[in-house]
Amino acid sequence: MAATFASEHTDAGHQFAVFDEGDRDRFIASFGDRAFLLHHRLADNPLFSLPRLAVAAERMIHAGIGNRFSVRDGGYDVAKPYSSEVERPKSLSAFEELRDSALFIKLSNVSAVDRDYDDLCQEVVADTEALLGHTILGGVTMVHLSMFIASPHLVTPYHIDHDANFLCQISGEKDVYLFDPHDRELLPTDEIERFYLGETNAARYREEFQPRGRCFRLVPGMGVHHPPLAPHWVRNGSDISISASIHICARDLDRRAHVHQMNRILRKARLHPRPPEQSQLLDSIKASGLELLGKSHPTSSRDIIYSGVDRLAKGLNQVRSVASRARSWAHLP
Ligand SMILES: [Fe+2]
Repeated sequence: MAATFASEHTDAGHQFAVFDEGDRDRFIASFGDRAFLLHHRLADNPLFSLPRLAVAAERMIHAGIGNRFSVRDGGYDVAKPYSSEVERPKSLSAFEELRDSALFIKLSNVSAVDRDYDDLCQEVVADTEALLGHTILGGVTMVHLSMFIASPHLVTPYHIDHDANFLCQISGEKDVYLFDPHDRELLPTDEIERFYLGETNAARYREEFQPRGRCFRLVPGMGVHHPPLAPHWVRNGSDISISASIHICARDLDRRAHVHQMNRILRKARLHPRPPEQSQLLDSIKASGLELLGKSHPTSSRDIIYSGVDRLAKGLNQVRSVASRARSWAHLP
């Protein structure tokens, strides 16, 4: 049974809150580990009306980050590769075509360009930490808000995400199917490592595992917590769906990602590395190298996760190219 959190009897301004101490205990026990339902107060916020979201999209274009506003032809196939949907030319008219077409509008990281959304993200983090009674998973490294606006009945294909997430329904309804991120038969280590090497579609949907998923029905005012790396797919209801997705990157998650990346590299060198979270010392050694190589002032979750391994790959390619040139000069095989 999913834990449900009611927002009644809470201080004004708070986005999430517990109804009683039992709910608080379940929130603490589940956050970052298991999916659970929650009530939120975002649905009536004017920041999430379609006209206001169109303004946010326009601001993204003017700020030179129009690539974070995308319009895609959506689909209905859960097993389709997550990143295979065809992108359309960006146009604000897409907001008016949603009802009678199959469009998926995404405003990625809208909180980076619009202060109102960033304030709200900070409030959600503060609420979450107040409920937990401590910092989130070793300390938040980045939080941002993305908006998903989609035509009726569209399906978001099966995939995994790095961050801990609150998916909050604003308008319309949807079914969110979430799977256990710790189930290594369903989500093998190989798929996680390939995901952290940049293969967005590494997690593969297998119909025989569908019964292991849990369906969370979202209506306006309800949200679901996605634990990091929990495989999921989503089906919209019969109306236009607007959802706010609050992504939280945290130190423990970023470090685990770097351990997976280093393990993949070690595996390619025919070694047999220990999985993350079995040895603090080994994890620390593996992650530190990539953390040192990574950007010191990351501006996106992509920078946090991938900049270290990208620089390492670039360095290794340069070494390979120099070695290959040296071999050809020396006429060695
Ligand atoms: Fe997702």
